[in-house]
Amino acid sequence: MAEKVAVDRETVKNMYGLAGKAAIVTGATGSLGAAIAKGYGYQGVKVMLTGRNEGKLKALREEFAAEGIDCAYAAGDPAKEEDVQRVVDATVAKYGEVNVLVTAAGVSIPNSILQQDTAEWQSVMDANVRGTYLYAKCVAKAMVKQGKGGKIVLVSSARSQRGMKGYTGYCTSKAAVDLLAQSLACDLGEHHINVNTFNPTVFRSDLTEWMFHDDNVSANFLKRLPIGRLGEPADFVGIASFLASAASDFMTGANVAVDGGYWAN
Ligand SMILES: NC(=O)c1ccc[n+]([C@@H]2O[C@H](COP(=O)([O-])OP(=O)(O)OC[C@H]3O[C@@H](n4cnc5c(N)ncnc54)[C@H](OP(=O)(O)O)[C@@H]3O)[C@@H](O)[C@H]2O)c1
Repeated sequence: MAEKVAVDRETVKNMYGLAGKAAIVTGATGSLGAAIAKGYGYQGVKVMLTGRNEGKLKALREEFAAEGIDCAYAAGDPAKEEDVQRVVDATVAKYGEVNVLVTAAGVSIPNSILQQDTAEWQSVMDANVRGTYLYAKCVAKAMVKQGKGGKIVLVSSARSQRGMKGYTGYCTSKAAVDLLAQSLACDLGEHHINVNTFNPTVFRSDLTEWMFHDDNVSANFLKRLPIGRLGEPADFVGIASFLASAASDFMTGANVAVDGGYWAN
């Protein structure tokens, strides 16, 4: 007789559940961060919204609270260690612990290396790499202290593995985020902290809205996307939820394409 299949019914039923967890979402004032924060909130996650723009954070908190989402905000610059530590401390003070980190803060300032000021290039690296490193560091320390493991989800880009004219800052920074996740996975695995990136291609945001309206650009880009359309922020709520849930407990150090098939083509 065949051995019984060792899958527990209750474990499977609950493996995607996020209710009751406390999450920090950076770049919550942006298109992707706001979508993920709201998506988490709808699933019963307690969300600490953060970004540099306090006015936007306050408005977002009011909008979410009106929908019954348990959330708070703390403003800060992800590239300043004292700000990051203050946001992490505020989260622990408010919700007792932090179980999930999503780093959705990021910036692109396209320019040729022949023209770009070094300080401008550095500002992209600071926002995308230093900010991600500092949040991972401060949150990991809090998670280790709590002793219950945790999930760290870093937003990278499909551009982490593809160069592009004028993108010496952006592509380099996102390649660093991919390798940061792999190295953090090695540092933090023994503490049951999973660290993964997801890597989107173009999705709708203030920065990319024009692409959705320029027939030439969008038709050319769509040729590279087997899925046949550009992304929307809501397309990323699923992967951000999966990587925060017990369903991804055996995944760490992964760079997951969520790109309409861009890397495949
Ligand atoms: N949109 C796309 O097509 C696309 C594609 C692939 C990957 N991504 C990545 O997805 C993430 C979110 O992008 P998005 O489209 O949601 O962008 P967005 O709408 O422009 O939001 C960016 C967020 O990052 C913060 N931010 C901007 N400049 C910053 C800086 N210099 N230092 C620190 N924080 C800064 C902003 O918050 P505050 O101003 O309040 O600080 C904002 O919340 C980024 O990492 C981006 O690289 C986007």
